Amino acid sequence: MITPVKATMMSTARIRVLQITDPHLFADASATLMGINTSATLDAVLAKVHSDFQAIECLLVTGDLTQDDSEASYRHLTEKLSTLKAPGYWLCGNHDQPGLMTAVNPSAMKKQVLLGKWQILLLNTRVDGEVFGYLSDSELALLDSYLAQEPDKHCLLALHHHPAPINSQWMDSSMLKNPDDLALTLSQHSNVRGIIHGHVHQARDYEFCGLPVMATPSTCVQFAPESDEFLADTRQPGFRVLDLMPDGQIESQVIRISDESMKINLESKGY
Ligand SMILES: [Fe+2]
Repeated sequence: MITPVKATMMSTARIRVLQITDPHLFADASATLMGINTSATLDAVLAKVHSDFQAIECLLVTGDLTQDDSEASYRHLTEKLSTLKAPGYWLCGNHDQPGLMTAVNPSAMKKQVLLGKWQILLLNTRVDGEVFGYLSDSELALLDSYLAQEPDKHCLLALHHHPAPINSQWMDSSMLKNPDDLALTLSQHSNVRGIIHGHVHQARDYEFCGLPVMATPSTCVQFAPESDEFLADTRQPGFRVLDLMPDGQIESQVIRISDESMKINLESKGY
């Protein structure tokens, strides 16, 4: 009986997805951010993905794709991600231009990705002209509607901005400004299993509304954890591997491209 064996294999299979975030690319591939060539560090991250994590269902890019608002930077990202076998999906960060993102790669702008017993929802927290984040009524309504439509699927929620303070004054001043609205929507459903985000350029695991929240290192510059003022970090770029389990658990690990210290301009007062 082949069918029952297949069903058993499907029900125990983990779904592996990758998160990369905050690549801050430029039109000029030789341009640098705080002394770091952001195109080269993204290439190094993707080389690590190619060598060690080929078998993935999709790749999520959680915002700040560009540093210079250029259409070319989005084209560069599209070309780099096209070397992977899995599809890539994008959401907006405060540095992004949603019109250009859609023009360059409309298929990457999916809000909902269905994968077996899971759905991944990618929400837009960008506010025009601001660094902080906000979930508009329409984004919250979309979240509510997707969760209601798929009550039997576990949900991984992807954002750019962090929904709760991370003990870093300068970063927390630009977090999501309406976490209570998100909490209210989440409280009306029981199928969200975790939240991932970018923006903070560091690895961090914490909780929001009883859910695991995972912040992921940028593919370029890192920020020092728990610093009240802007401070860069010498840790290496990285990404996050997420294994979505059939029972709703999320197993995750952060992978860095190297254990060595990064040569970064630590005198920078901002980015
Ligand atoms: Fe960023």
